[in-house]
Amino acid sequence: MSAMVSILFITNNEHKVEEANRILSPFGIRLEMSPQKKVEIQSDSLVRIARYAALTAAKKLKSPVLVEDSGLFIRALNGFPGPFSSYVQKTIGCEGILKLLQGREDRGAAFRCAVAFWSPNLGLHTFHGESLGRISLTMRGHAGFGFDPIFVPSGEDLTFAEMPPEQKDLFSHRGAAFRAFGSWLSSKIIAKP
Ligand code: IMP
Repeated sequence: MSAMVSILFITNNEHKVEEANRILSPFGIRLEMSPQKKVEIQSDSLVRIARYAALTAAKKLKSPVLVEDSGLFIRALNGFPGPFSSYVQKTIGCEGILKLLQGREDRGAAFRCAVAFWSPNLGLHTFHGESLGRISLTMRGHAGFGFDPIFVPSGEDLTFAEMPPEQKDLFSHRGAAFRAFGSWLSSKIIAKP
């Protein structure tokens, strides 16, 4: 693709837009933040949530749209907060999660991300990414957002919030999902994105 392709990203989260654009720029793709209400169904599947929200937005906007749904899944808590991560972050936050894990030996966790993209000529496509890791014993670092200060990716010592942004992208669920999307889309020709 030669010219930059621009797509509406349905989200209210500026951090997600910043990360996604950093990851997508080598593919010649730019996301424009469209802060309208994302229609979210109750589901334990991030892919299902993202697909439904993308189709609802596409129906209304009739132009290429992208929705991302992500969450933190903690093994000792049977996958909680998962699809409820945004609400849990706003209510009990990182401190609350650390309290829930007090005395637990198993601190294994995964961040997951589902990306749903729709365009008139390519239809609906989904991509996902996962980052395996663990929940730290304390909050560390100030970069990023959400649960970044308590998530340490496998094989590393730093939390996402202690890493330079590009290093987080290398390990993150968002990095994996958006790189998959970027390489797929850049292999297609979108007549009118
Ligand atoms: P949603 O996708 O808008 O439902 O929100 C996902 C929530 O999961 C965010 O509000 C964060 O609390 C959390 N989350 C998702 N991805 C990340 C990340 O990369 N770092 C930290 N927290 C994240």
